[in-house]
Amino acid sequence: MSSFGQNYRVHTYGESHCKSVGCIVDGVPPGLRLTEEDIQVQLSRRRPGQSDITTARSEFDTVHLQSGTEHGVTLGTPIGLLVQNKDQRPHDYAETDLYPRPSHADYTYLAKYGLKASSGGGRASARETIGRVAAGAIAEKYLKQAYGIEIVAFVASVGKIALPFAEEEDEVLGKEYMNLVNTVTREQVDKEITRCPHKETSKKMEETIRAAKAKDDSLGGSVTCVIRNAPSGLGEPAFDKLEAVLAHAMLSIPSTKSFEIGSGIRGTTFPGSIHNDPFIEGKDPRTGQDTLRTSTNWSGGIQGGITNGEDIYFRIGFKPPATIAQEQPTARYDGSAGVLAAKGRHDPCVVPRAVPIVETMAAIVIMDMVLQQNARKQAASLLPPLTHLPPTMVLPGKSTVQAVVNGKDVGAVQSQKVGEE
Ligand SMILES: Cc1cc2nc3c(=O)[nH]c(=O)nc-3n(C[C@H](O)[C@H](O)[C@H](O)COP(=O)(O)O)c2cc1C
Repeated sequence: MSSFGQNYRVHTYGESHCKSVGCIVDGVPPGLRLTEEDIQVQLSRRRPGQSDITTARSEFDTVHLQSGTEHGVTLGTPIGLLVQNKDQRPHDYAETDLYPRPSHADYTYLAKYGLKASSGGGRASARETIGRVAAGAIAEKYLKQAYGIEIVAFVASVGKIALPFAEEEDEVLGKEYMNLVNTVTREQVDKEITRCPHKETSKKMEETIRAAKAKDDSLGGSVTCVIRNAPSGLGEPAFDKLEAVLAHAMLSIPSTKSFEIGSGIRGTTFPGSIHNDPFIEGKDPRTGQDTLRTSTNWSGGIQGGITNGEDIYFRIGFKPPATIAQEQPTARYDGSAGVLAAKGRHDPCVVPRAVPIVETMAAIVIMDMVLQQNARKQAASLLPPLTHLPPTMVLPGKSTVQAVVNGKDVGAVQSQKVGEE
């Protein structure tokens, strides 16, 4: 189906060349100041035609709020968001009436529905992601105001050009890469048209994308995303582990091929003695309260499916776009052999435009988990305070945890006081 999320639920609609695309988003808390400008920022970062290394389809993707707000404030009711498709050229796709594009979704859509949208990628088009980006921009605003959460994604590789993930063999991930993960801002990311915030690497990426484009070819790449200031305790212990839901969200973005949390596949080559994240005494960066921190963060901020308060970071791999103007031998729908040189305006590499899609999908996931955890904490807060707990349930030491253990306190609790009145 076309919905995602439980407590913050997004339903997207629209195809590549229909009248409009958009979403209905349910679960936005009432009382959030919200205007179209708040949402437009991320849509404009996603829009096509931003530079000569993205598709030439020119859309401004102006968003129109349809419902759910009054006088610039959310009502708590479903929010409808609409973006008109303006620069449609369905005739560009005449060849795909004869050929299913190799590695695109033409054949599988036909297999599933028995018919296909007459032009473009239908629902498989990246135009579908407009609804997600709009819904995620609202979540980002709430998360920033309520928790100071910030989400930043950046391009980590294009084809064979990559950031230095590690300088030394024995490093799980290198200092330069982790420094970007820890400190990079959206302003730094947007300074480069590739959205790789490392000038030298970005220049090489630009060159390689332009060279692929000149050969009517395309390139894949990867995007790293970091979520800062998320409270501990988000995520569910079994099927909705936070990394599982993040992977679901990210792998639902068109063109994605892989998802790695924290140290990812590289981390699997190290022993536990190097890969473990030892605990240290520290302060919660949001609340300033004493808490346990970790001296490294190869877990990517999630252990047992639940946030530990450290930065959450992950990397997503995107394949080269399927539609290329270069001649490709392939079969027509009728089985006869032919050669397809696909016309139309297409991205030579999707990763620069994927950055805001990744950020906003991450925001949707965190928003959903925040609402879920807050419902649990609120429910627990209505119970009479717990007394006479066995000593094994009482944590020693002075660290604080965001836990649901004290009937009165729904926030961080002083652990040694649990069970005392
Ligand atoms: C931002 C973005 C832009 C995209 N642009 C194109 C494109 O111009 N041409 C194309 O063939 N695929 C493009 N795609 C990928 C297709 O939407 C996707 O490959 C296709 O639906 C097949 O699905 P799959 O690759 O996820 O299996 C784009 C994806 C994203 C995220």
